[in-house]
Amino acid sequence: MDKKIDRKMSWPKGYEPKDDSANDLTLRLGLISSILKDKPKKKMNTEIFNVMATRRSTRKFSNNPVEMWKIDKILAAADTAPTAGNYQGFEIFYVRDDDKKDSLVKAANNQPYVKTPVVLVFCMNPERIKLDFPKDVILKFSIQDSTLAAAYSQLAASALGLSSIWIGMFDEEKVKKIIGTKLRPTSFLCIGYPVKKRPPKSRRQLKELIHVVD
Ligand SMILES: Cc1cc2nc3c(=O)[nH]c(=O)nc-3n(C[C@H](O)[C@H](O)[C@H](O)COP(=O)(O)O)c2cc1C
Repeated sequence: MDKKIDRKMSWPKGYEPKDDSANDLTLRLGLISSILKDKPKKKMNTEIFNVMATRRSTRKFSNNPVEMWKIDKILAAADTAPTAGNYQGFEIFYVRDDDKKDSLVKAANNQPYVKTPVVLVFCMNPERIKLDFPKDVILKFSIQDSTLAAAYSQLAASALGLSSIWIGMFDEEKVKKIIGTKLRPTSFLCIGYPVKKRPPKSRRQLKELIHVVD
């Protein structure tokens, strides 16, 4: 292993690289590098408009596990999202424990598809935002930071041939207890391989969506 790599650098407990090779460590130490520098692997759709046009929510997942390199990329994608003042006013809770996933199902109105191979809970962290603005503005920024980050991860999951379901309907207080935080959760992103890929859903007509302001 390359001695120059500081093994004490900051990966969270439980997310330590298993692969001891120097390359892998370098990538994992800099999550963003893992999406910017890592070579595209097979089965990755790198055309962003195609990813957007083909992404669909899934509520039926297979039990196939998600490869670690894909999880790295999904997490790294969140970290590339723009945030207010670049203060990154959000946190991600990567839930791996099966019992906790079961509890999250219950906290989310018994939506069974919450229990997927990869469950990410995105939370606001307004205290990170060191801008001298009124409290309500800071709170709004951190909701936006957290939501944008989840959206980036959702697109990344799609690009990697995975599917996801965004969960916004849950009891916030129960979720806080389950994941062990005081931070306010904004959404879960539940990710896995779909049993079946579905075609895109129809949207409203452009004239209802776009308002031209001259
Ligand atoms: C803010 C938000 C909250 C959502 N909450 C839920 C939810 O609690 N449960 C669920 O099954 N789907 C939820 N969804 C997924 C939507 O139902 C889904 O994105 C929508 O029907 C459009 O389908 P598509 O994602 O396949 O394009 C949510 C999506 C968003 C953006």
